[in-house]
Amino acid sequence: MKAESSNKINILLIFLALVIIGYLGYQNYTLNQTKIALEIELENTKQDFVSTTEKLSSDIEAFRDLLITTQGEKITAEQDALRRQELLDGMANTLGLYQKLANTDRELLAKYSKIYFLNELYTPKLSITIPTQYTLEPEKEKMISVEVWPFLRQMLDDAVSANIDLKIISAFRSFDTQNTLKSAYKVTFGSNANTFSADQGYSEHQLGTTVDFTTTKLGANNLTFEKTPEYKWLTENAYKYGFILSYPKGNAYYIFEPWHWRFVGKGLALRLYNEGKNFYDLSQRDINEYLLTIFNQ
Ligand code: DAL
Ligand code: ZN
Repeated sequence: MKAESSNKINILLIFLALVIIGYLGYQNYTLNQTKIALEIELENTKQDFVSTTEKLSSDIEAFRDLLITTQGEKITAEQDALRRQELLDGMANTLGLYQKLANTDRELLAKYSKIYFLNELYTPKLSITIPTQYTLEPEKEKMISVEVWPFLRQMLDDAVSANIDLKIISAFRSFDTQNTLKSAYKVTFGSNANTFSADQGYSEHQLGTTVDFTTTKLGANNLTFEKTPEYKWLTENAYKYGFILSYPKGNAYYIFEPWHWRFVGKGLALRLYNEGKNFYDLSQRDINEYLLTIFNQ
């Protein structure tokens, strides 16, 4: 009886053991399956991550390229616009210069001493009467180019401030006036008149840019003007107002004329002063460079 119940217990135990083993086996199997599933999911996630990262980098790369291209195009467009503007400005400048040149009287800087001839109808574009306080003989009207007048007036006023007594004795002379004057000189001086008086059409006075000075003390006889403080002041200052001495000592055309001053513009007068040269030493081509700026202040 005892052996029989012992067998039953053993069978029960074996059964229990089998159940436990089976359960554990099942659990192990389930766990393995879960692990495999997780591993697959992990792998998929990894792959997703890799491909997302790759996509992202390629997007960034493309965006950077786009940015560079856009910036490049912007720069190119800006440069193009700048170049176009420069070209337009250049054209406008050139056109302006041509217009200015066309409107500028080329006679103003021409060499008139026995070289060029002024048409008998030539007169300054516009001239004004010089106020009598600046002239020697108030009863005789003296005219000057309206464009030259501001420079001349400034020079005369500054001279007064420096106690310099400059008086104008001759200014614009028409072709006819010069003709009459020269004829009178010829009667008195014969061919000698050619050493100090231009024939009609060859006088700088016809330009309306030239004046003869004297002082109150000297009056109409200004032959000794060279010895006056007025002449010295002019030699040191006239260039600042655009005036030059046309006929210095030893010039090729006329006697020394310390009283005769011609307006050539500040730029040219300054150059002549700095280089110690005379107007008639320069070539006409060289002189013409200053034509466009002759009335620049
Ligand atoms: N006295 C100068 C040369 C003229 O007559 O123009
Ligand atoms: Zn003169």
